[in-house]
Amino acid sequence: MCGIVGYVGNKSVTPLLIEGLKRLEYRGYDSAGIAVVNDHGMRVSRSVGRVSVLESNVMPTDGGNGVEPFDGCLGIAHTRWATHGEPSEANAHPHTCQTRCGNTVAVVHNGIIENYATLRQYLTKKGYHFTSETDTEVLAVLIAELYEGDLESAVQTALREVRGAYAIAVVCNREPHTLVCARKGSPLLIGLADKSYVVASDASAIIEHTTQAITLDDYQVAKLCAGMEDKTTADGGPWSVDFKTTTIDNLPVTHEVRELEIGLEQIELGDYPHYMLKEIMEQPESIRNCLRGRIDQRENRVVLGGLGEVSRQLVHAKRFILTGQGTAYHAGLIGEYLIQDLAKTPAHSEYASEFRYRNPLIEENTAIIAISQSGETADTLAALHEAKDRGALALGVVNTAGSTISRETDAGVYLHVGPEIGVASTKAFVGQVVVLTLMTLYLGRRKFLSQEALQSHLAQLERLPQHIATVLEQSDHIRGCVERWVDRDNWLFLGRGYNYPVALEGALKLKEISYIHAEGMPAAEMKHGPIALIDDGMPVVFIATQGSQYDKVMSNIEEVKARGGTIIAVATQGDREIHRYADSVFEVPDVPEALQPLVTVIPLQLVAYHAAVLRGLDVDKPRNLAKSVTVE
Ligand code: AGP
Ligand code: GLU
Repeated sequence: MCGIVGYVGNKSVTPLLIEGLKRLEYRGYDSAGIAVVNDHGMRVSRSVGRVSVLESNVMPTDGGNGVEPFDGCLGIAHTRWATHGEPSEANAHPHTCQTRCGNTVAVVHNGIIENYATLRQYLTKKGYHFTSETDTEVLAVLIAELYEGDLESAVQTALREVRGAYAIAVVCNREPHTLVCARKGSPLLIGLADKSYVVASDASAIIEHTTQAITLDDYQVAKLCAGMEDKTTADGGPWSVDFKTTTIDNLPVTHEVRELEIGLEQIELGDYPHYMLKEIMEQPESIRNCLRGRIDQRENRVVLGGLGEVSRQLVHAKRFILTGQGTAYHAGLIGEYLIQDLAKTPAHSEYASEFRYRNPLIEENTAIIAISQSGETADTLAALHEAKDRGALALGVVNTAGSTISRETDAGVYLHVGPEIGVASTKAFVGQVVVLTLMTLYLGRRKFLSQEALQSHLAQLERLPQHIATVLEQSDHIRGCVERWVDRDNWLFLGRGYNYPVALEGALKLKEISYIHAEGMPAAEMKHGPIALIDDGMPVVFIATQGSQYDKVMSNIEEVKARGGTIIAVATQGDREIHRYADSVFEVPDVPEALQPLVTVIPLQLVAYHAAVLRGLDVDKPRNLAKSVTVE
């Protein structure tokens, strides 16, 4: 999903904005652009493709052969993930428009302006000409139309006319020390740095400047000013910085400044070739962080401070709805099995995009658990609102502190696995399942779970980081196996019980970064149609760990083998039987069925990673994908 960076202060803005865009590249995009304001006016540059293309246009390595430097102390920049209009230079942001008094307004935007067609028609009748196919351009034109020397006021008035989702940053060449930004439904952070302000879509583009930030709420506008108080004096007078936040109706609002939790080292690639491999290999550490302080072995209890205020409502909850998209949805499916199995409470998992539109029945004492790594997924946020509006207790399982979903819930539990940069979610998925397991044990102990059962599960969870490390040692072995089948274009992933959602997750991982078509399903379901797909050498990944349905899975394996399929099995360490049938075996430690997803997903992450690398693809920025889908 797109990235916004803005800056007003005393530093050279162009390299700062380009670096900020690079920090946001992981979010996914197709084009980029920048606008800077300096004493000579405004300069804009836009390009299709990577930020590096834009960089070469505005920061030429040859010193720009005498061309006036593309720089200043105020600017905005953007990476676009197209929704309206193809990826092109004309559709890239910033979008600009001349005001009636001859000044220029520039806008960058994340989200969708739903009533853009009406606004475009109105502005066209007023004589404006549009140069792009985007919805965003109507914002630039509307703000220019309303500009009468006060950019903040023009933005407030324009946003009162707008429907849809937006995070925007706006500059005008007539106000060379003012940056205006606003949000509704799309994330925007404001970093309060020394003598300057940095705005960005997420903390990764802010933390090298400051760890002090505020988060705008929906329908809020911020006016950020930094510059010399009196440019007429020789030394320019004292440097002043000032910001204020209002609603779009110009009502003042205040914000608490919070400490950004992530550090630069967490978003640096280090010695790894890709963020995805870094995040896979760091899972023992990230899961230690996720578990830290949450298991009290001495008292044999789960400690989840974020649920303290709602623990009684939790115990009285008659039903749990778990919701999310993509990988988060798969984690929710495992949560469904866990809550029913260990807390003996009705639960079901739904795609947020489906739940929000199907007029769901929400009885009394229902709780919804919104699961999201970014905490910004539009459909998940909407599903949360839908359930909350109908009286449900709203809980969040989120990785990004201060994100919209985390702020919209009644209570929740952060993953604490650190920022996840790779588009394909790995450590966040394991973190989501760990947190859902902890929540289930927290709830279960308040219902029917015995002290002994709780103690046993907690002991196994404590050993999880080591279990994961054991599986990660097979990375080279897994790569060797994948190498044999990486040219196959269709794969199946099959599992039963707790491992059925893992089969879905394994298929998604392979699809989204290697572009190999893959499908996950319950192993038994294969016989109801998909078995027709099995042809000679088709890779079929079975999660065939020891458990209540092991024999059934073995039968499914024989059914596939009898039709020439290639068997790749995730199996329990020490299982000798499986080697009689499987072409490749990835071993995992022997853990209780309820905890198996936490280890069986690890080989599948590596299968997808190695397949993408062997296919020479961009693992961290797969085509068409965004890290956080903040549009519907
Ligand atoms: C998973 O690898 C994908 N990146 C995608 O399915 C992701 O899980 C989904 O978009 C939900 O994102 P969220 O967890 O940030 O809400
Ligand atoms: N809807 C806008 C466009 O298509 C913004 C997309 C984005 O969030 O990057 O240009």
